[in-house]
Amino acid sequence: MLNNPVKPYPHKILEILPQTETEWTFRVANDLPIQHGQFMQISLPKVGEAPFSISGFGDGYVDFTIRKVGKVTNELFNLKKGDFIFLRGCYGNGWPVEQFEGKNVVIVAGGTGVSPVKSLIHMFYENSDYAKEIYLILGFKNSRSILFADELAEWKAAKHFHAVYTLDNEEREGWNKGLVTDFLKTVPFDSFGGNYACIVVGPPVMMKFTGLGLLATGVSEDKIWMSFERKMSCAIGKCGHCRIDETYVCLDGPVFNYTVAKKLVD
Ligand SMILES: Cc1cc2nc3c(=O)[nH]c(=O)nc-3n(C[C@H](O)[C@H](O)[C@H](O)COP(=O)(O)OP(=O)(O)OC[C@H]3O[C@@H](n4cnc5c(N)ncnc54)[C@H](O)[C@@H]3O)c2cc1C
Ligand code: FES
Repeated sequence: MLNNPVKPYPHKILEILPQTETEWTFRVANDLPIQHGQFMQISLPKVGEAPFSISGFGDGYVDFTIRKVGKVTNELFNLKKGDFIFLRGCYGNGWPVEQFEGKNVVIVAGGTGVSPVKSLIHMFYENSDYAKEIYLILGFKNSRSILFADELAEWKAAKHFHAVYTLDNEEREGWNKGLVTDFLKTVPFDSFGGNYACIVVGPPVMMKFTGLGLLATGVSEDKIWMSFERKMSCAIGKCGHCRIDETYVCLDGPVFNYTVAKKLVD
């Protein structure tokens, strides 16, 4: 149990599930309550600390899907099942799940942006009555960067899901070719009678153009939710690293309604 919010505690790696060459899911022992869309700080002694979204959770475990990009993540990729990492958190507001109840939910995510929304998609998958229809538009650079292949197939087969999967610039059977923004027009917004919500997660440029694309199809700002990965240090509102004007991404986010998010998009 993590009883001090700023103190990292050791947690055992239960499983390492490679997704791609440079993105692995680390399943770590956990007994803390978690909300969809939250993140934790992972640290390794004498190496450093970084924030990572929770890509899944269940009885006794939490998943992080991590891209190997630098100091901390390089060391994480040297670890194996049974080793310990240090965690503090959970942090952040998470997705406003109650806002999605009974609605058509449109989820547009790209690359590692699928991680922060994966547990929420899984909740919709398992609870077909919670929302109405789920529209997924998920994009990856190419076939070597596809994450969560097994889950993607399950979601696509679900009756209440409408899944469009796309690769930026590669032809592949069962996949579209193009950017996620190319497929926003496939969503039948006109048939929703205003009863819908949109979720957007991905690299900053993708979030910017997806937000603009949704507005261009007539979606109103207050129906769009975005999650941000902003440089963080303390994650508890003390250091100011994540601050943009009066907004602390670590405390007020990482999930924001577009009415606020539009001021945070670079
Ligand atoms: C809320 C939140 C959620 C996040 N969720 C995830 C997640 O689920 N999965 C995930 O993989 N990441 C996630 N991130 C991003 C992750 O925290 C960063 O990638 C983190 O910096 C990695 O730490 P590192 O020490 O390995 O990399 P660092 O060493 O800090 O490197 C980070 C970046 O800097 C670049 N860099 C490193 N060294 C140099 C150098 N000498 N010169 C120039 N550039 C350099 C690297 O290429 C890399 O792009 C999240 C971030 C936030 C804020
Ligand atoms: S990360 Fe320190 S204030 Fe947000």
